[in-house]
Amino acid sequence: MELPFSESYKIKMVETIKKSVRAEREQWIREAGYNLFRLKSDQVFIDLLTDSGTGAMSDKQWSEIMVGDESYAGASSFYKMKDAISDILGFEYFLPTHQGRAAENVLFSTLIHEGDLIPGNSHFDTTKGHIEFRKAFAVDCTIDEAFDTTVQHPFKGNVDIDKLEKVLKEHSGKIPFIIITVTCNSSGGQPVSIENLKKVRQVADRYGKLVVFDSARFAENAYFIKLREPGYRDHSIREIVREMFSLADAMTMSSKKDAIVNMGGFIAMRDHQLYTKASVFNIMFEGYVTYGGMSGRDMNALARGLYEGTEFDYLESRIRQVEYLGQRLQEYGIPVQQPIGGHAVFVDAKRFLPNLPKEQFQAQTLAIELYLEAGVRGVEIGALMADRDPVTRQNRYPELELMRLAIPRRVYTNNHMEVVATALKNIWDRRHSINRGFVITEEAPIMRHFTITLAQA
Ligand code: F0G
Repeated sequence: MELPFSESYKIKMVETIKKSVRAEREQWIREAGYNLFRLKSDQVFIDLLTDSGTGAMSDKQWSEIMVGDESYAGASSFYKMKDAISDILGFEYFLPTHQGRAAENVLFSTLIHEGDLIPGNSHFDTTKGHIEFRKAFAVDCTIDEAFDTTVQHPFKGNVDIDKLEKVLKEHSGKIPFIIITVTCNSSGGQPVSIENLKKVRQVADRYGKLVVFDSARFAENAYFIKLREPGYRDHSIREIVREMFSLADAMTMSSKKDAIVNMGGFIAMRDHQLYTKASVFNIMFEGYVTYGGMSGRDMNALARGLYEGTEFDYLESRIRQVEYLGQRLQEYGIPVQQPIGGHAVFVDAKRFLPNLPKEQFQAQTLAIELYLEAGVRGVEIGALMADRDPVTRQNRYPELELMRLAIPRRVYTNNHMEVVATALKNIWDRRHSINRGFVITEEAPIMRHFTITLAQA
């Protein structure tokens, strides 16, 4: 008999998580203004809010913590990180930052001016926030297939080259760079193919534009290329990663994802002039160029994490767990973004709760239902997160209204996934009785979903 698949690690340390009863959760979510970000973590049983900074570091990473060099300038930990970035990603220059959005802040301060357009596949919310904060515009050029959760496509993160060309043709003078998010979080943790990255590179070269990768989940992207793109089956993950990044001029990185650390980020680039310009902002916002908001110990763990995060066996364990949850949901008939993404399962809330008007926030309503059902915390990737249009101040209703169940790396077992799947099935069975959503009572002008207060409609 063929042996079943299992994880490529065993557990050395555990952390207790707390169960609760529905009456407690009803009170807690009310007190949190029906905003899952405002819950205390011990009010949550299984936390699938994010896979960012929530992974379990390995014994080797923890041992790196002990030997970090905390020198202000020129720490050996900086050079360890520099060597890992050069070895795995192939960039000569880099600046550490405290996390991914800080990398965006520094790089965008260097490159973006008011009125600019930044085309790419679907921008992540902090990326879009940092663009719009500078009175510039994020232009989504993702392929149309990505916006229909029922369509099977191996690379739903791909850029529609015609859409990209059109923006470049019409606004070339106002476009400082193209940004490609690998994997594309907003479209459902969906990968971008090497073929597509090459085409983007060709277009960029024709118009003389930089290409920047938003790289939080670059290794998961490489895993999908290995499995799905013709010609890559026999390539190692690291070979694919090198080929991907050979097509970029610069990258921003939230190391809290595929470098499997709890905090950290960086910008990497080829051009010394860009490095010099960005260094000024890094020193102002983050810290001196050899630590940029990170402790030496954290840079050590990050360097090690880049190696562990690009091992095939680890990636297979991780992505197959996400797929496991996705398959369970599909067996119950629950509508999810297909194919299942790398870091999360995205439940299609429009199709889950079709009776609820979009003005009552379907994905948020579903996420609250799931929390009440089993203490499982997911997150809304829909109209709340989409914010208001910066010009008209009208609510934006994106094509995809999703509840994301993001799986932390090396943290939960498949038994936890079973709990999540069963809880959602219970809600699915009574979905027709859910006909009351939520309205906004208080919101911030930008990135409102983090702090918003809601009331029952
Ligand atoms: N880019 C992408 C694609 C991301 O998913 C994130 C964060 C960032 C940039 C910003 O990085 O959090 O380190 O500042 N995504 C998290 C999430 C928060 O839950 O998807 P950060």
